[in-house]
Amino acid sequence: MKLNPDQVSQLIEAASQVRRWAYVPYSKYPVGAAVLTTSGKIYDGVNIESAAYPTTMCAERVAIFKAVSEGERDFTAIAVVTENAGSPCGGCRQVMAEFGLETIVLIADTEGKLHLETTVGKLLPQAFTPKDLPEK
Ligand code: THU
Repeated sequence: MKLNPDQVSQLIEAASQVRRWAYVPYSKYPVGAAVLTTSGKIYDGVNIESAAYPTTMCAERVAIFKAVSEGERDFTAIAVVTENAGSPCGGCRQVMAEFGLETIVLIADTEGKLHLETTVGKLLPQAFTPKDLPEK
């Protein structure tokens, strides 16, 4: 699916706005994410750090988990906003891949500039997906 320019800016804006709630006392690197469902809803998320560093959770996964825990599983796009248009980490790519390789990924900065529009499948080639698990 292709996003229209309004959808692109709306999703980037949602990810940008939510960044203020990022809990980042250690990295001081707030990340905002926003997922657009095929039903037209937007779920946002931020990174939430922990004094036990590895238990930190990324913004993309918070947004996806919020959506899934509300019954949503079909995603059109996800936007990720950071000060320098950082790329989603491997763990987040894997979680995105669980719900579809066609999902559009928008990587933008805090000025609202879109640096990359791609798909989950392009970010995670040869992904291990639910189809790789044998039927039991
Ligand atoms: N982070 C995300 O929220 N998403 C990513 O895809 C990359 C990294 C967060 C985790 C941590 O709170 C901070 O950015 C620095 O790694």
